[in-house]
Amino acid sequence: MSVSSAIKLGVVGCARILPAHLRGLKAIQGAGFSNFRITALCARQIRDAQMFRKRGEGPPPRPPVTTVMVNDPLHAPHMYVSDLHDDVLPELYTDWRAMLRSADIDAALILTPVHLHHQVAIDCLKSGRHVLVEKPFAITVRAGRRMVEEADDRGLILGVAESIRYAESTRIDRWLVDSGLIGDIQIWISGGMGAPDWSPDVIVAKTPWRHRKLMAGGGPAVDGAVHTFDLIRYLCGEVSEISALAAQLEAVRFIRDEEGKVVERVDNEVEDVFFANLRFESGAVGTLFGGVAGHGEPTGLRDGSVVYGTKGCLKCGDVIRDGGERLDGRDLFRADADAVLKEQWFPRGIKDVFGLELLDFLRSIDREEPMDASGEEGLRDLACSMGVLESSALSRPVGVAEVLEGRVDAYQAEINDHYGL
Ligand SMILES: NC(=O)c1ccc[n+]([C@@H]2O[C@H](COP(=O)([O-])OP(=O)(O)OC[C@H]3O[C@@H](n4cnc5c(N)ncnc54)[C@H](O)[C@@H]3O)[C@@H](O)[C@H]2O)c1
Repeated sequence: MSVSSAIKLGVVGCARILPAHLRGLKAIQGAGFSNFRITALCARQIRDAQMFRKRGEGPPPRPPVTTVMVNDPLHAPHMYVSDLHDDVLPELYTDWRAMLRSADIDAALILTPVHLHHQVAIDCLKSGRHVLVEKPFAITVRAGRRMVEEADDRGLILGVAESIRYAESTRIDRWLVDSGLIGDIQIWISGGMGAPDWSPDVIVAKTPWRHRKLMAGGGPAVDGAVHTFDLIRYLCGEVSEISALAAQLEAVRFIRDEEGKVVERVDNEVEDVFFANLRFESGAVGTLFGGVAGHGEPTGLRDGSVVYGTKGCLKCGDVIRDGGERLDGRDLFRADADAVLKEQWFPRGIKDVFGLELLDFLRSIDREEPMDASGEEGLRDLACSMGVLESSALSRPVGVAEVLEGRVDAYQAEINDHYGL
């Protein structure tokens, strides 16, 4: 694929999540989808951008933020744009507005801290560029709504890099639900407390901004649960009402060195645990909890996420029917799912979730069709996350529609005011 016909990408934010995106692009390139080039890299500090441009150049990569959670995308090995293509190398910027003025790009990947998502996205869209923004979609629902409106007005593609939507386990679970094997959904259950590298009082992902309300929007109810809400909505349909409690248990969070000496600290301004009960439009009910606090050791539900239906349940990829019959979901999918659907979800057998979301973005630009994880989907996931925090702030159940439409913003008002939203 020649440079001139390729979709040219500018990346804003060159740090911890970028290697997972580069690895994803390598995966789709390996499967023959190579009609892209990264022609611009933008970071607040030039050294961050230099770190990714060309193998053998730039400052040395930083060590991964987690050594324990090997499946976390933040554990992806360091990569360079030159590992993908060397017929064109990216120009480097420290100001996204300058990038938009002078770089040759058709689209932007926004991988910045959350408070910049709407600011960068709206500027990109105003300049006529398509946008794929990392999760959570925006710092508030109102900020996210502005992004969606801007993209709609201009007929541009806007998507959220919601990796869970593209995971093999998610797609297979969706197929199992659609196949009717567990009947109509009645109950959702999922939860976990703490994480090996982040609890009880560690600065999550070595990013202090994650604990600042005006930079992150919220704690794990947003940062982590936005993924879970995407999964929940994808499998169970829309959440209509949320009744939740969120709490901030650790006032200060730290980064410690190998000897345990504190090297960085941040005042924690966001919740570090939450508990949420859900009602669905379908009449189903559910519960979800999570957090990055909890002393001693983390706790996970032994069975992970569970979906109960009127004929059985879905647990760890297995279908368990009334009477005890247990079916392996993956085997069923391999044997019985339609080949067209398999190719749609896993083109040419790609399984890398970042690769799949990026391919969906590139194809959506080509075909002028919305992404599966569209901006509207990202906004709805965020409205559920913010619903948790709004419900807790108001000490009452909230309707997700109230949050989506901006009729409830007791928690978000401070952020909206700060950014003039
Ligand atoms: N999909 C996932 O599973 C997943 C995992 C981790 C992070 N994320 C998301 O990725 C995004 C980034 O997270 P991270 O952990 O990589 O953050 P990070 O702090 O490591 O990186 C942020 C980058 O943004 C740049 N930046 C900050 N201010 C800027 C400015 N004014 N102009 C240009 N660049 C600027 C920084 O220089 C840095 O390169 C967040 O939205 C986060 O939620 C997603």
